[in-house]
Amino acid sequence: MNEATWDDRYRLGIAAIDRQHRQLFDLIADLNGLIAVHAGAGEIQAVLQRFQRWAEMHFAAEETLLSVTGYPGHDSHGEEHARFLATLERNIKLIASRPLAITQTDISALLTDWLRAHILKNDREYLPHLRASIRDLP
Ligand SMILES: [Fe+2]
Ligand SMILES: [Fe+2]
Repeated sequence: MNEATWDDRYRLGIAAIDRQHRQLFDLIADLNGLIAVHAGAGEIQAVLQRFQRWAEMHFAAEETLLSVTGYPGHDSHGEEHARFLATLERNIKLIASRPLAITQTDISALLTDWLRAHILKNDREYLPHLRASIRDLP
């Protein structure tokens, strides 16, 4: 089982964004907990959909910040988010309709790998711009 725990490596220093990232890690940990106790498909679906809604909300918040501050990489960052949401949607449908096509552990690993890599690379890239643009972030 992958370790989906938050640690300081993921801290960007922007409280609202850090809170949302943390919430996404917590939801993956919930998913892993359900997988570990062999929870039913309904419960797995529910937590995946909760993750999906939080991811959509977080991406919208992040893209708004990048857009209003005129981040040059706004479009490509938004495309990264959209690609991930499409992959997530596809996999949620796949596990619901053909549970043998993909394992719950595969989905968990996909979410964890993407979230880690995206925060450490793509989200970190906008930090200097955001810090310079906004002085009084929450
Ligand atoms: Fe992002
Ligand atoms: Fe993010």
